[in-house]
Amino acid sequence: MRIIETKTYEDMSKQAANIIASVVTLKPDCMLGLATGSSPIGTYEELVKKYEAGELDFSEVTTVNLDEYKGLPKENKQSYYYFMHDNLFDKVNIKPENTHLPDGTNLDSEEEAARYEALVQSLGTVDLQLLGLGRNGHIGFNEPGDSFVEPTHCVDLKESTIEANKRFFESADDVPKQAYSMGIGTIMRAKKILVVVSGEDKAQALKDTICGPISPKVPGTILRLHPDVTIVADEAAMSLM
Ligand code: GLP
Repeated sequence: MRIIETKTYEDMSKQAANIIASVVTLKPDCMLGLATGSSPIGTYEELVKKYEAGELDFSEVTTVNLDEYKGLPKENKQSYYYFMHDNLFDKVNIKPENTHLPDGTNLDSEEEAARYEALVQSLGTVDLQLLGLGRNGHIGFNEPGDSFVEPTHCVDLKESTIEANKRFFESADDVPKQAYSMGIGTIMRAKKILVVVSGEDKAQALKDTICGPISPKVPGTILRLHPDVTIVADEAAMSLM
């Protein structure tokens, strides 16, 4: 595990974007695993800047996203489909047909989880998977639990996650109670994993992820068993280390 500490969120975003850009430059037809949430927004901004400066070409890139709320239509501003289009896909020359997310509008959980898992596997190996870290140590929407769930599945969101994510909705009642998420196995099969972590409210989760026992109670700890993980974290997130 490589840990890069940066002063600010902006520096974290630049470092992360440089790592992603190097993968795209070395392999123009790479497959990127992408994440949502506030942590990667700056990274996407930096990637858009690089694209606008003519430094990056997404025309052959394929993407698969980690997760999506179950039950939110694509045009809902809080859907991860909307987020990805708003923050990246509509701003670069990626082909829409090469971008993939779980379909939150499919209410048949088993069918959607199986469809998305099969799709991701059929596309090949993810060259780089970008991740944020939940305040409770979750990755994607793999919530703390008694075991690691391997494939894409439907998750019952924890109260703490609903609480953390309600800032994006009008109220906690509007936050969907379930989501589709790549499983730990889906994530761990990526060749490279890049985690962006920012802010004091992530400090405990980051410390547990890096130093605590490897356990499904802190899903991020599994990343220590992956051979190529880089964490880029700002000073505030590193404050308990
Ligand atoms: C959300 C997402 C995760 C994200 C995490 C942290 O619930 N499902 O993919 O990494 O929580 O979000 P944020 O970056 O907004 O703190």
